[in-house]
Amino acid sequence: MAVRILGTGRGIPKNYMTNDDMAKLVDTSDEWIKTRVGIEKRHIVETETTTSMAIEAAKEAMDNAGIKPEEIDLILLATVTNDKVVPNCSCQLQAELGMVNAIAIDINSACAGFVVALNTAIAYFKAGIYKTALIIGSETLSKIVDWTDRSTCVLFGDGSGAAVVRADDTAITDFVQGSDGTKGGALDRGTWGVVNPFVKDDAKVPGLYMDGQAVYKFAVKIVPKCIEELLERNNLDKSDIKYYIVHQANLRIIQTAVKRLGEPEEKFPVNVDRYGNTSSASIPILLDELNRDGKLERGDKIIFCGFGGGLSWAATLVTW
Ligand code: UT7
Repeated sequence: MAVRILGTGRGIPKNYMTNDDMAKLVDTSDEWIKTRVGIEKRHIVETETTTSMAIEAAKEAMDNAGIKPEEIDLILLATVTNDKVVPNCSCQLQAELGMVNAIAIDINSACAGFVVALNTAIAYFKAGIYKTALIIGSETLSKIVDWTDRSTCVLFGDGSGAAVVRADDTAITDFVQGSDGTKGGALDRGTWGVVNPFVKDDAKVPGLYMDGQAVYKFAVKIVPKCIEELLERNNLDKSDIKYYIVHQANLRIIQTAVKRLGEPEEKFPVNVDRYGNTSSASIPILLDELNRDGKLERGDKIIFCGFGGGLSWAATLVTW
């Protein structure tokens, strides 16, 4: 059993900040950010929330797919920045959009989240349990970054992307994924602290910490490795793949993958320049842009690859 993507959508905050705007807050420059990461601007919420952006992306994706909310039987929403712990973001989405026949589950697998969610849907499809899923990545990273830390706050942005997928026997699908919790300290948000009758821990929750170089080294190895594994397992040549849609963390990571795989740059579409790193939302936002720009044709083979906090990674081969 394989998967077919029927439609895509996105929800993007109205406001954005340029690198010059960031330089008014921390000691940075347009030149440093562009050269080291490839970002020019990032969208940042004012009134939008992780849930409201997910609702916008989901509506667009269902509309694009020509699917009614009642037809969805599985909602998998990837986020590390949900608005509430309970109810989860996907249940709020289900209520808002009337997806009355769906189970609604949030997934936290950081920047690999959208691809992990897609792979989870594929596993459910293979088991014959569900057949039409809404997969979303939605993030408000601006609420967890430390706005005084120039080494992280300039990197991230807010946004949401969604795809409606359906079980389909006629398409090729395969995935690889993994985690290495021993390296989890490289990207860490700290704990909430405990308050109960025995403990009163009122420590302030620290902002996001990242050992950028450790994550960078991991990323430049894992992206080509996942792609090569998927190609080999499915007896495919690189020329069979139309696009590699990889997590948009840093333009240099993408350029290194281009070089290591010996593939043309055009096969690795990029939008990190306009959105920054939107974690689990980066891949579905990019997918939606390609779809709406008419760059995808039925039968095209695509490989998604997400990587990040955990550390975790996931890659999926799909037929458009
Ligand atoms: O989505 C989750 C996955 N995340 C990633 O994949 C991120 C992976 N890592 C990276 O993309 C890169 O490591 C970064 C973009 C985070 C950092 O780039 P880098 O080339 O590794 O820079 P660095 O951390 O080695 O810092 C180089 C210099 C330092 O100054 P000194 O010590 O050389 O004087 C930093 O203090 O750049 C300085 N620096 C900055 N300067 C201006 C760090 N942040 C900034 C800044 N503006 N915003």
